[in-house]
Amino acid sequence: MTEFNQDKKTMSAILSSMAEGVLVVDRSSRIILTNKVAENIFLVREGVLLGKTFSRLPHYGRIRTMVGGVLKTGKEVFTETLIRPHTQIFRVHVAPIKGDNGSIDGAVAVLRDVTDARNFDQMRSAFVGNVSHELRTPLTSIKGFVETLLDGAMENNDLCRRFLTIIDSETYRLSRLIEDLLTLSSIESKERPMCLIPLCIAKSVFNVLNIMGPQISEKSLRVDYIYEPNLAYINADEDLLNQVLINLLDNAIKYTPRKGTITIRSRERDSRVVTTITDTGMGISRESLPRVFERFYRVDKARSRDQGGTGLGLSIVKHIVESHGGEVLVESEVGKGSTFGVSFIAL
Ligand SMILES: Nc1ncnc2c1ncn2[C@@H]1O[C@H](COP(=O)(O)OP(=O)(O)OP(=O)(O)O)[C@@H](O)[C@H]1O
Ligand SMILES: [Mg+2]
Repeated sequence: MTEFNQDKKTMSAILSSMAEGVLVVDRSSRIILTNKVAENIFLVREGVLLGKTFSRLPHYGRIRTMVGGVLKTGKEVFTETLIRPHTQIFRVHVAPIKGDNGSIDGAVAVLRDVTDARNFDQMRSAFVGNVSHELRTPLTSIKGFVETLLDGAMENNDLCRRFLTIIDSETYRLSRLIEDLLTLSSIESKERPMCLIPLCIAKSVFNVLNIMGPQISEKSLRVDYIYEPNLAYINADEDLLNQVLINLLDNAIKYTPRKGTITIRSRERDSRVVTTITDTGMGISRESLPRVFERFYRVDKARSRDQGGTGLGLSIVKHIVESHGGEVLVESEVGKGSTFGVSFIAL
């Protein structure tokens, strides 16, 4: 095998093992080398790009300009751009190929898909924005009432008590918010290993009904629990399962008017244990329904806030259930009530 052929073989082995798309052009902007990833990016068949100049290919506007610039100036350039027809964002790096005497013999363009990283950045900054907003609201209110008290309202006993009660509930909201955020992040980061054991969900439901007893009687709600005898066990982390049931029941209690009814059902369907919680509450509109599991989403911000809600309860439910390999469901009709459900694989 000649040295040239060997070089070419080595080169194409290197190029084909790269995760980036590569286009090498000569000094007249003609493509002389490429790899599979680049062909996929531009949706062309193998070998189609070779020998072509950029001006003859669609979708290359930005790269063409960059390559043209590099061939002229000999200076490398970077950019991030959307390459049609994709919706992906690529980081493009174009560097000159220089000869021994410093002449510009061509250029190499390397294209890396950075869509996931950018989406992640966007999600993270949206999340930080939401968190800051949620923290600032109760803080602003606490600060306002403390200032009013210090300005003289504390001399008036009734006012003092009223404002301190508000400060107390806002502080409670702040600490719940932080607790919920910590729960979310500990499930997400998997720093707390899940302790899966075979459990009977009916036992957990009774346990949670006991915990929530005072809230239920305070609103004179009627709660029925209907479950199949000999219900299959599920593999779950007991604390996390309790948290799921508490969050769902807490909502059913909060969003159902006094004297309403809450019906909990556990049954087996297609090798899954499904538990649903149906209330006779206000219900959720069709537009809001797909969003209720999003972080911080509240159908009625003011009302939820009055109730001390953070809008994180259902996103925690979804996270926990999905990390168990289970699924969440919701159905609702405005004015009639809602049904939230969780299903786990039956043992
Ligand atoms: N059973 C329900 N009936 C009517 N609306 C509900 C019900 N459960 C949840 N929602 C709506 O979905 C939103 C999101 O619920 P989620 O539990 O995530 O937050 P929250 O209850 O407002 O706050 P938190 O659970 O942190 O106290 C609620 O604000 C409420 O508007
Ligand atoms: Mg809730």
